[in-house]
Amino acid sequence: MSNSMWSKNVSFVDGQLTLSGIPARALAQEFGTPTFFLDEEAFRSRALAWKEGLIAEFGSSAGHVFYASKSFTCTAVAHWIAEMGIGIDVCTGGELAVALAGGVDPSLIQLHGNNKSLSEIDRAVSLGVNALVVDSLFEIDRIAEAARKHGKCQAILLRLTPGIEAHTHESISTAHEDVKFGFSIASGAAWDAVEKVSGIAEIELRGVHCHIGSQIFGTEAFEIAADRLLQFMAKYRDAYKSELPELDLGGGYGIAYLPSEVTVEPSDVLPTMGKAVRAACEKYSLAIPAISIEPGRNIVGPTMFTLYEVGTVKDVVLEDGSTRKYISVDGGMSDNARTALYDAEYFACIADRTSSAPVVQSRIVGKHCETGDIVIRDIQFASDVAPGDLLATPATGAYGRSMASNYNHVPRPPVVAVINGKARVIVRRESEADLLALDVAKM
Ligand code: LLP
Repeated sequence: MSNSMWSKNVSFVDGQLTLSGIPARALAQEFGTPTFFLDEEAFRSRALAWKEGLIAEFGSSAGHVFYASKSFTCTAVAHWIAEMGIGIDVCTGGELAVALAGGVDPSLIQLHGNNKSLSEIDRAVSLGVNALVVDSLFEIDRIAEAARKHGKCQAILLRLTPGIEAHTHESISTAHEDVKFGFSIASGAAWDAVEKVSGIAEIELRGVHCHIGSQIFGTEAFEIAADRLLQFMAKYRDAYKSELPELDLGGGYGIAYLPSEVTVEPSDVLPTMGKAVRAACEKYSLAIPAISIEPGRNIVGPTMFTLYEVGTVKDVVLEDGSTRKYISVDGGMSDNARTALYDAEYFACIADRTSSAPVVQSRIVGKHCETGDIVIRDIQFASDVAPGDLLATPATGAYGRSMASNYNHVPRPPVVAVINGKARVIVRRESEADLLALDVAKM
């Protein structure tokens, strides 16, 4: 476990946050606020740590790390992933387009999604992607048809629901029975899918997949999932007299958002996962299949912080007579929807000066016309915070920019990658012209 919310090249010098030696004030002057700053070296080393960890644990049975690009992607990031020989998980045509623009080889792309469109399926099959992760019986026919059309045999994994209550927020927990994803093992739906696929020459059933949820700590849920999926693979072996060669255990590894929290590192989870896989393979007399994983948040989350500028500060007297300081920044729920959606908790600090003022009960809010536009619901914050101060929120790399919106016609912030003391824009800030570009009718 590592216990910092900040990425490795962030440090604080006399109250000034610096990334790879560049002070926050200089970053704000050059790139404006709000902006996501990405520690490129940290991203690369986190991604490689998962790849190397998987190989160290599983040796010749290591499958691929498929970076879950929904957590954050853009052409540059996809390019780094390609350079490192890591795979990518995409779940829409848009994410697929970015992976291809970044130069990811289709043989390292997996297409997910519970309602892939016909054109998404057609494109993935024609490209010859690594695998489509199948989520419904309808999709099996659609893939078969596309494969026939392109004269190909398409590899697939079946997404299974192992019936596990992962301890995380309900909206990001995905492997209990009552969810839209996957084929339930318990109900028999998973076996129906196997039987349906087995008669189709254009589809190669390469293995099974599960993703039990997101922001998960501890290894128990992964161990149970591995056991249930391997048991299912043994049932397949018994029925079809051949073993499925791949098991994909999804993503979900948690990260620190608050000073009191920790970030899961590959060495915290992979050895336990390896043990569970080996034990289950022995129990069910299976050869160890290729093991793949799909971390998203854990790779990119810790590598970005958002830099805002404080615009207004207001002391509001509450019913109980106490005071809450409302600190308004120049972004909000359009660049961080997670607080409103999942009651997510974040930390923030002044990024360009020290403060020895006492801390007071505070709330960090955005500039949107909505009471729920909250970045941090409760925080003890320096009472001398004032307009013009820079404020940094760590660990916003995952599902921050990727879930950003244009609510109130606010342009989405840029992403600036910083490495070796050099900063460059990899996703530019939206402009008002971008916002107006979609309005094709003038009246
Ligand atoms: N694989 C599959 C099939 C997934 O559905 C997901 C995430 C991942 C991998 C990556 O999970 P990660 O390693 O990032 O936890 N918007 C929510 C998270 C939704 C996750 C959806 N699926 C949030 O902001 O917390």
